Amino acid sequence: MTGSRAAQGSRGAHEFDVRVAHPARIYDYWLGGKDNFPADRVAGEQTIAAYPEIRASARANRAFLARTVRYLAAEEGIVQFLDIGTGLPTANNTHEVAQAVAPASRIVYVDNDPLVLAHARALLTSSPGGVTDYLDADLRDTDQILERAAETLDFTRPVAVILLAILHYIPDLEECRRVMARLTDAIPSGSFVVISHAASDIDADQMAEMIRRMNEYMGGTTHVGRTRDAVAEFFAGLDLVEPGVVKVTEWRPQSQQAANGPTSLWGGVARKP
Ligand SMILES: C[S@@+](CC[C@H](N)C(=O)[O-])C[C@H]1O[C@@H](n2cnc3c(N)ncnc32)[C@H](O)[C@@H]1O
Repeated sequence: MTGSRAAQGSRGAHEFDVRVAHPARIYDYWLGGKDNFPADRVAGEQTIAAYPEIRASARANRAFLARTVRYLAAEEGIVQFLDIGTGLPTANNTHEVAQAVAPASRIVYVDNDPLVLAHARALLTSSPGGVTDYLDADLRDTDQILERAAETLDFTRPVAVILLAILHYIPDLEECRRVMARLTDAIPSGSFVVISHAASDIDADQMAEMIRRMNEYMGGTTHVGRTRDAVAEFFAGLDLVEPGVVKVTEWRPQSQQAANGPTSLWGGVARKP
């Protein structure tokens, strides 16, 4: 199949409530995007007041996405990507980075925000030889995601699972472990997992206040920071590629200046042996 499609389902098929802030739209606000509502902008300003570096940290996370996807496509020959917690379309979406290297790349996007679903068309601009697909689903419904992603991705061949700035919206550590075990079990040897995650041990006091304010505004969704060791544990059973779990700015940076930039996220890439 060549082209693009979008599907709705699981816990993702919920109503819009623009009075409650949501992670995708607060993140869009931090990045300077326009796809957010007054409640998201209030939460965005309150969190920026608590931790002014959060905007630079969000930009650093997007740069980490671009570097890791380019690395996987160009150096590891990966042509299949499952990007869960996609976010609102912005610059350098996964398919754009991957298909710039390998036009036949197949990408399945997954998010549970109805606004991301509404904007999915902007993510479904596959290059002619490749495929992009969008699933409206919740990461915790992992079996359902895998079943539906298998309509587009061949799980007998290597797949890169991208989990950027999403696991920190699952406060239950056991649930995160279950999700990770299920995902890593489903991918064959030679596959990769990429994670970035909010830190509780970088700029700890400011981050704690930033997260407290986020949770106050998000009504229902809970954000948690975790330590570097806890984030490293999510790669259990996989081989971390150099330089391991580091600040996202320090993962194969393009310059020393970029490596020294502010971030409050741990990140890493690992290969399934
Ligand atoms: C901070 S944004 C990150 C976007 C993108 N991955 C990036 O790093 O640039 C987090 C995204 O995860 C999504 N998300 C949060 N919890 C989710 C869940 N349980 N299932 C699916 N998506 C989720 C949000 O809707 C949002 O779009």
